[in-house]
Amino acid sequence: LMVDESENKYYQEPYRPQFHFSPKKMWMNDPNGMVYHKGVYHLFYQYYPEDIVWGPMHWGHATSKDLVQWEHKPIALYPDENGLIFSGSAVVDFANTSGFGTLDNPALVAIFTYHLMEGEKAGRTDFQTQGIAYSLDNGDTWTKFEENPVIGNNGIKDFRDPKVFWDDINHAWVMSLVAGDHLQLWSSNDLKKWTKLSEFGKKQGAHGGVWECPDLFKLKVEGADEEKWVLLISINPGAPNGGSGTQYFIGDFDGAKFTTKQTREKWIDWGTDNYAGVTYNVLPKDFYGDTYSNDPEQDRIFIGWMSNWAYARETPTKKWRSAMTVPRKLTLKKIGTEYELINYPVSNLNNIIHSEYKETIQIPADSIQSVPFKNYNQSQVKFRTTTKGFELVFKNDVDDELLLTMNSEKETFVLDRRTSGKIDFHEDFASGVQTMPMNNLGQAEFEVRILMDASSIEVFINEGQYVMTAQVFPNKAFNMLDIENNASGTIILNDFEISKVASIWQ
Ligand code: FRU
Repeated sequence: LMVDESENKYYQEPYRPQFHFSPKKMWMNDPNGMVYHKGVYHLFYQYYPEDIVWGPMHWGHATSKDLVQWEHKPIALYPDENGLIFSGSAVVDFANTSGFGTLDNPALVAIFTYHLMEGEKAGRTDFQTQGIAYSLDNGDTWTKFEENPVIGNNGIKDFRDPKVFWDDINHAWVMSLVAGDHLQLWSSNDLKKWTKLSEFGKKQGAHGGVWECPDLFKLKVEGADEEKWVLLISINPGAPNGGSGTQYFIGDFDGAKFTTKQTREKWIDWGTDNYAGVTYNVLPKDFYGDTYSNDPEQDRIFIGWMSNWAYARETPTKKWRSAMTVPRKLTLKKIGTEYELINYPVSNLNNIIHSEYKETIQIPADSIQSVPFKNYNQSQVKFRTTTKGFELVFKNDVDDELLLTMNSEKETFVLDRRTSGKIDFHEDFASGVQTMPMNNLGQAEFEVRILMDASSIEVFINEGQYVMTAQVFPNKAFNMLDIENNASGTIILNDFEISKVASIWQ
């Protein structure tokens, strides 16, 4: 083992996230199997229990009642003779279509990719297949289906990450699955026998890297009598600011095929560190009643892995590697002529955010103002403004600086972590600034909300229309914040609020 168990108490180590989920120890990547069942949100995740770098994949497991506090559970799925357990999803088999459970105690069924390392080593291309497993005790113990794999491989090298949902149109299970450069949709009545429905995407969207971790779901367009389907596709590499990133498509699904008129590339997050994110499965309450519906509000909740394959294995932590983004609620808005996928922290997070300072701030032209930002270790900064010319500089007394610049002329938001502390563990982390174009922001007042944890920053502009997530490793926690006026006249930041975010790890 590479890990020194003696040094610090868990969750008090340098850079340990205090309000983001991270495994107690060892390596984690993608969120998996996100499903709500019997009052509990399950979070499974790609996990290697032997080291702090990627290795033979298991599914780690944690649960939460509110998406804020998490409880660690034993490892759910271990590799077997069919291979390692790669990413996938989980469903409540409420109608017992699989026969694994009963109507009174429906099975939780996990659908995942098997990766056969031996096959890959032997130079074959058919080493990824899809398998299933079930649990009758709300995720505590799992049994693999003895006829695995349920979908074999016809020689497609990258064939993975099944996300299954219940389709109201055909009353059948639908699986989205990626195959190298495109999406495949498959259908099943029992989660065991699958038939291919259609393909999408060879010519659509960004193709800088392999397609990974698809998710297809329906959302209401806010304030309109309209519903649209959203397809999330992670790609690695090929993200707008380098390495791994998650694009989305807005379109329609007729029960067999996904189609879109979208011509522009769209990204759920413009920062470098939000990858492989997918959503909790939601069963429509009006159809299935309270027992199986997700929550009273039928929210669509997203969690991403807060890292980037470009340097994920080298980040400067010792006992564990990486964390998840805060859970975010997804909504769909039509802004101007564009459909925009909005992602914004779930409201439960407010329960651990405590306001320490709130004033309206005016900054004259050509000047800089310091605000009473302290060393809270984990903080939120929030304000509303119409001003698009300002720079926020987070600092500490060892000269680390993290710069956030809103540029009104270019309509961009730029995150610069080049002088933010430990950066030299990988050249892709150290080099370049991260730029987010905001050409559909409009002229009205908008909110800027920043969540800062021990080794990350998440920026939400206009309540999640434009989002940037990035890891940051300052040598000491930032304890000063300067705001620079880059506009032509006085700028006004309304209800400028600084809050302390409580730790979720006691
Ligand atoms: C995405 C990914 C998935 C795969 C998993 C392996 O980060 O590459 O496509 O299933 O990680 O750990």
